[in-house]
Amino acid sequence: MAALEITDDRSEFDWRAGLPRLANDRVLLRPLRRSDAPGLYRVVRSSEVARQMWPPPNSVQAFERFIEWTLTEGAAGRYICFGIVPRGQTKAVGMFELRQLQPRFFRAELGFFLASSWWGTGVFSSAAGLLLNFATDVLRVHRIEARTSIDNARGNAALRKIGAKKEGILRGAFMRDGQYIDQNLWGFLAGCDGCTDAIAGSSGAIRGAERLKVPAKGPRPSRAMRHTLLADRDAH
Ligand SMILES: CC(C)(COP(=O)(O)OP(=O)(O)OC[C@H]1O[C@@H](n2cnc3c(N)ncnc32)[C@H](O)[C@@H]1OP(=O)(O)O)[C@@H](O)C(=O)NCCC(=O)NCCS
Repeated sequence: MAALEITDDRSEFDWRAGLPRLANDRVLLRPLRRSDAPGLYRVVRSSEVARQMWPPPNSVQAFERFIEWTLTEGAAGRYICFGIVPRGQTKAVGMFELRQLQPRFFRAELGFFLASSWWGTGVFSSAAGLLLNFATDVLRVHRIEARTSIDNARGNAALRKIGAKKEGILRGAFMRDGQYIDQNLWGFLAGCDGCTDAIAGSSGAIRGAERLKVPAKGPRPSRAMRHTLLADRDAH
């Protein structure tokens, strides 16, 4: 693994120049890379995942283009996407995305999926803790929203388990097989009583972060360089 550094000054960290690797003893979160496309494409096309999502990219090549888009949007500061890589694996088996709903990530929307072979293993909640810490510590998100179909028992239970509060029902907000389906609106509020420590607290350091040394100020690496940096972060 390349030289790593953990910073104690989150204001110094420019995530647009390259997302950090976030790790604990169970899972690694890292930017997606092209080689993740075939596996993640299979996951999003599997019936148990596909039924809970809006239509995903319709080919491996389209998924590769989506991965490129995640990197471009990330560099522009509008979007965050992490692949979920369980310890001992090299390929992403799921992902988290955070879309900014307000400038500077004041409010963001969370999306996620995991290959069903990893359901119930603890990988999701462990990975979610890393993601929520990053959102709080680095992005300084104030509020995260997530939407799940009301019939998505597993997705709803998973969100409750990681500290989200159910805030209401969005009528007819999702469509499956030509039917409108209500969605639950879930929220995490930074610093709010009752939230898990994952988002309510902040230690100052980027918790769980292992990252390459990227200059926070001064010239930003070119896009090509950023991709090289990302591509170099293979070892788990
Ligand atoms: C959502 C998702 C990432 C969660 O991962 P996971 O590994 O299944 O999550 P967990 O096992 O940590 O939590 C699921 C919880 O639901 C519970 N659960 C499962 N089936 C349930 C049911 N029918 N009713 C109520 N709870 C249920 C599980 O028991 C578990 O809780 P526990 O750990 O307290 O026992 C995964 O299920 C997934 O990818 N689903 C498809 C995509 C999706 O729904 N995304 C969210 C909407 S965009």
